[in-house]
Amino acid sequence: MKKKVLGISFGRKMSNTEVMIKTALMECEKAGADVKFIRADDLDIKDCTGCIACVISLLHGGNGNCHLKDDFKIIDEALMECDAVIVGSPTYVLSPTGKFKTVCDRLGPSHDISFRTNAKENGIKMGKDLSKLPDERSFKKRVAALITVGGAMTQNWLSFAMPTMYEFTMSMGIDVIDKYEYFGAMAYEHVVGNKKVMDRMIRLGQNVAEAVFSSEEDMSKWRGDEEGVCPVCHCDMLTVVHNKNKVECPVCGISGSLALADGEIKVEFSEEEQKRSRLFYDGKLEHYVEISTKAVGSGQIPNKKELLEKYIGYAE
Ligand SMILES: Cc1cc2nc3c(=O)[nH]c(=O)nc-3n(C[C@H](O)[C@H](O)[C@H](O)COP(=O)(O)O)c2cc1C
Repeated sequence: MKKKVLGISFGRKMSNTEVMIKTALMECEKAGADVKFIRADDLDIKDCTGCIACVISLLHGGNGNCHLKDDFKIIDEALMECDAVIVGSPTYVLSPTGKFKTVCDRLGPSHDISFRTNAKENGIKMGKDLSKLPDERSFKKRVAALITVGGAMTQNWLSFAMPTMYEFTMSMGIDVIDKYEYFGAMAYEHVVGNKKVMDRMIRLGQNVAEAVFSSEEDMSKWRGDEEGVCPVCHCDMLTVVHNKNKVECPVCGISGSLALADGEIKVEFSEEEQKRSRLFYDGKLEHYVEISTKAVGSGQIPNKKELLEKYIGYAE
């Protein structure tokens, strides 16, 4: 079966992000993969309404599909089909674009691999037909590369972009094998005139191709430039948790310890904590368990209607 690599851009048509993704896709095609490109701006994707029908459905052995009818299905189908995805978003106000976040919200709970796995197992126990269970392709191993583009000359004007981009792949359990932050984009009329970045995109494409054509065991190997502070997501962001020397990786949700050694900051995440990262199945399963055992339905507050009365229409 031919390997399929998907590129999704949240940038402007034919601008930096799009051309960077297409450069990487061209390398994947050269290596023998089928490639497909989606420009998010061409699609009508509605905001998540927060109805949590996807979660309820998955908790009851259903398929978790969203009730909204729009072009999200184009992204969904392409993600289910692919073996690798290259996602790129411009940095807008330090983070990926609003549409990027909209797509992440639509992917979030409904595509969570631990929710889908449990829904499938429970659905089978309930005797449900396979067609009523989560899409079988959700369970296929896939990899990703993430790209963000910032116009600013200073890298910290992109600070939340890359960590936030993990939201795209996290719930589906797609392993990120390379990432690249292009800052200073406004110093070039177009990225086509920036050889360093274009060369890096060729390498990013080659890294993705190498991953999809390697054994399942080697597929998820990290191929990016830097190891980063967190050994799981390879990002450099940390949360200070105000508990002795403890810090957390905000992407993975795991705890580490910080120390100063010879004037240098050293951060360590134990093997056990690394395994708990929400980028891995075990970390997602912890979340599935907390939601499936502790989230309450209606009826907990008997006088809820009465308590809410004074808020109806207030100051609207
Ligand atoms: C609303 C808006 C906010 C932006 N905020 C940032 C920012 O916080 N940091 C940054 O580096 N660039 C920022 N930029 C610049 C874009 O990242 C830059 O134009 C980038 O090249 C867009 O990607 P594209 O060329 O692929 O469309 C912003 C641009 C827009 C339109």
